[in-house]
Amino acid sequence: MDEKTLLEVKDLSIYFNLREGVLKAIDGISFNVDKNSTVGIVGESGSGKSVTAQAIMRILPETAEIKTGEINYYKDPANPIKIHELPDKSPILGNIRGKEISMIFQEPMSAFSPLHTIGHQMIECLRLHTPMTKQEARERAIEMLAKVGISNPEKRVDQYSFELSGGMRQRAMIAIALSTNPSIVIADEPTTSLDVTIQAQILKLMKDMQAEFNMSIIFITHNLGVIAQMADMIQVMYLGKIMESGTAEEIFYEPRHPYTINLLKAIPKIGSNANGKLEAIPGQIPGPFDVQKGCKFCTRCPSAIKGLCDLRTPELKKYSETHSVSCWKCLEQEK
Ligand SMILES: Nc1ncnc2c1ncn2[C@@H]1O[C@H](COP(=O)(O)OP(=O)(O)O)[C@@H](O)[C@H]1O
Ligand SMILES: [Mg+2]
Repeated sequence: MDEKTLLEVKDLSIYFNLREGVLKAIDGISFNVDKNSTVGIVGESGSGKSVTAQAIMRILPETAEIKTGEINYYKDPANPIKIHELPDKSPILGNIRGKEISMIFQEPMSAFSPLHTIGHQMIECLRLHTPMTKQEARERAIEMLAKVGISNPEKRVDQYSFELSGGMRQRAMIAIALSTNPSIVIADEPTTSLDVTIQAQILKLMKDMQAEFNMSIIFITHNLGVIAQMADMIQVMYLGKIMESGTAEEIFYEPRHPYTINLLKAIPKIGSNANGKLEAIPGQIPGPFDVQKGCKFCTRCPSAIKGLCDLRTPELKKYSETHSVSCWKCLEQEK
């Protein structure tokens, strides 16, 4: 952590206490989000990406427990906020959720109320978190809808979300998320349900907005290709652990972990796969309750070393100031 750090996630573990047993959704992850930067979190389904986002926003389900670790917010470095320690009803937490850190979800339909117009929801949110009058908030809502590329914003502001197309709805959600001028926007698979052309437009929009609003983005996706142009730092997650992290250049040009290498191979190529679906990495992901020693990827890893990878957890090794990998094969290769 240094003066650039805005958010610090340190040794975070989150367990679900379920009737079937304890599910370790996140198991000791650490990463930082710098000011004005984009962190990509990538990994297959079930890696713990959404739970990480929920922990930062403190919107975890009741069955979840923060077992270890810290989430520290350094907007004012002299007064860091320990998000993990804030009481549920704390006004500071209310301000974090409603203003400082906002979230864009995969399914915008679920984020909008079907009972209220888009404008109504934006105005409510703005009035709750800023001193704006109703008229000012309405003007701001219209201005934000225009900024995200929604035509006819004066008319759209009085429409319901179901009256918009998928791409327009996603734009409207970005407008809502950015209207309070947050420092961090967490986007959880925000383009997954959109077609490729609209995906590209939404990504460009987010980048443009980042430059304009001076915000940091945590961009969550199962598809490494999506964040190639977008992310400064990338965290590669698998079954609740960070396998590799590095700058986008390090992850794309010098990947070391076999899991990262497989994810790179699985990036859909334009034209090769009409629906843009990710080609699966071979092997089955172990069930969430399977107790597995050693490296979590070892059951599917083409380079797994018997008697080592299946027994002992590899340490995180630093290859550069920004590049870290947790892999026995990588360590052994250097011997
Ligand atoms: N509400 C919940 N109750 C029980 N288990 C959950 C819940 N949410 C997530 N999990 C489990 O936590 C793990 C991580 O899930 P998640 O963060 O949603 O993965 P990702 O977003 O990477 O697909 C998975 O094993 C998932 O089944
Ligand atoms: Mg998810």
